[in-house]
Amino acid sequence: MDYFLKTRKDFLNFFKSKGHTVVPSSSLVPDDPSVLLTTAGMQQFKRYYTGELNPESDFGSHRATSLQKCFRTSDIEEVGDDTHLTFFEMMGNFSFGPVGSDDPTDAETGGYFKRSAIVWAWEFLTNVLELAPERLWVTVFEGDGDTPKDHEAYAVWKNEVGIPQERIFWGKRADNFWGPTGNQGPCGPTTEIYIAPTPEHARQGKGVEVWNVVFNEYYATAGADGAFKYKKVDSPGIDTGMGFERLLATLEGAANVYETSAFVPIVSAVRQAAAGISERDIHILADHIRASSFLIADGIVPSNKEAGYVLRRLLRKIIAVRITNDIHADVFQIGYEAVTKMFAGIYPAVGEAEKILGVWREEQGKFEVSIAKGLRELESLKTAALTGNAAFGLYQTYGLPKELTLEFAKKTSPDFENEFAAEEKKHQDTSRAGAQKKFGGHGLVLDTGELKAGNEEELSRVIRMHTATHLLQWALRTVLGEGVHQMGSDINPERLRFDFNFDRKLTSEEIARVADLSNEVVKKDLPVYYQEMPKEQALSSGALSFFKQKYPDVVKVYSIGSQSSGGVVSAEFCGGPHVEHTGTIGEIRIIKEEAVGKGVRRIRASVV
Ligand code: ALA
Repeated sequence: MDYFLKTRKDFLNFFKSKGHTVVPSSSLVPDDPSVLLTTAGMQQFKRYYTGELNPESDFGSHRATSLQKCFRTSDIEEVGDDTHLTFFEMMGNFSFGPVGSDDPTDAETGGYFKRSAIVWAWEFLTNVLELAPERLWVTVFEGDGDTPKDHEAYAVWKNEVGIPQERIFWGKRADNFWGPTGNQGPCGPTTEIYIAPTPEHARQGKGVEVWNVVFNEYYATAGADGAFKYKKVDSPGIDTGMGFERLLATLEGAANVYETSAFVPIVSAVRQAAAGISERDIHILADHIRASSFLIADGIVPSNKEAGYVLRRLLRKIIAVRITNDIHADVFQIGYEAVTKMFAGIYPAVGEAEKILGVWREEQGKFEVSIAKGLRELESLKTAALTGNAAFGLYQTYGLPKELTLEFAKKTSPDFENEFAAEEKKHQDTSRAGAQKKFGGHGLVLDTGELKAGNEEELSRVIRMHTATHLLQWALRTVLGEGVHQMGSDINPERLRFDFNFDRKLTSEEIARVADLSNEVVKKDLPVYYQEMPKEQALSSGALSFFKQKYPDVVKVYSIGSQSSGGVVSAEFCGGPHVEHTGTIGEIRIIKEEAVGKGVRRIRASVV
């Protein structure tokens, strides 16, 4: 069955029957300067949660439901595999206090909270979509330092819905606490619903997450150091999100999102236009053509900054895939025609073919002229070993993609990738500094000098990598000796760099050992926390300090592990922010170890 139109209708109608007003998706360009693009259904409702805007006078109720266009830049490099998309749609139901009667049978238009949100989610999945209840399992927030264990949600699942306890799991903050978007907003503990292929899988807690139900009990604000401060709100709200394409994959038994009815027409069009290319490239084209059509429809034009830059990256990637695969047909136009057939009836702006194809053609023209110039320049360099710096120069001046440069350059210097990355980083820093100036200091969610992040997704990556640097320093000292200490570090959303004193190259065994030790601590999921104390006390406790920095009289010491968790592995003078449990970091991968000066080595690493 084709679920594409049916599921959208079923969802909105179901919540309409529960007293919700159907609110159209807002634009992908949010009216919130701290967020680049809309990443969640609740984005357009942020000010209803705070009471700043009145839902009653704007749409006549305290309950809303929508299918929201979303775009997540954090996944851009992952696109092509089975699950990652840049653009997707999210189905959601929302409640903005005050909480009226929380009886699920009550259809009056007051707000509602945990009980109704959970009971309705269950009813929709099992009664409307007719998913077998035995295939569903759920997680509930287990609580930590700042926020207590969610007994209330647990009790609703167990007593009201009647899920057997073996299919209710406690989850950590990384999975069961959501938000805020940008540098402030509503947020809170969540309960997540998963669908397993069989009841047996459900009992083992295996399957895909489909629905995130957020209990907005807090309002968070980022402090000067980038760490969030949480304040309990007077009237709590509900914010839920269910990824539309992912749900379709489950309902249709598709192997991945590209094989669902949300993608098949687009993928087939691309496959016909570009016969013989890899599945991965087909997925990239399908995602990027669909996503850029929506971005252009919402008024974004290619540029070198912010959302315009995101669009430019998508379009240029499409061109690069086209050139490297020698695709002759205008694959964008062919893909777009499939997009518009599916979506113009839902989002009329997507049907503005002249505008969308116009933007595409102009960008393509510019890029092709640029590439031709770049290739001539490359030719005239006639260099046997093209350095990464020179390649980045070509990229920056002519937009010549790295892949093409590599393809046309006969031989590249051994350090090509790193040189290219280093130049790219310098460039990003300059444009970020520009963004910061433009927003009067608010363009970056976080910029401590050492850590830089431009939006909430980047923020979570740099925070994970920040804790990873502490673990790496500890592991390096364990493997190489206590004489090793930090000489510098730099973290952006893509990677971390950690410099330390050591007088020779590390062996591959030593590097593997450092990675293994760090990942063992990640697996143990040790607590990460800080204590404030006088500087002298911190120094005498043996906490590591960074000699280049001048510290105030009272300092924060961040520790990993506690006596009760089997001992402290790391304690460092540090302002934060950090993850709260090491499990949140994910796997740490050391990408490279190299010299940066006499007696100074550098590790580049990333988290997965
Ligand atoms: N806002 C929540 C999410 O995006 C529902 O997952």
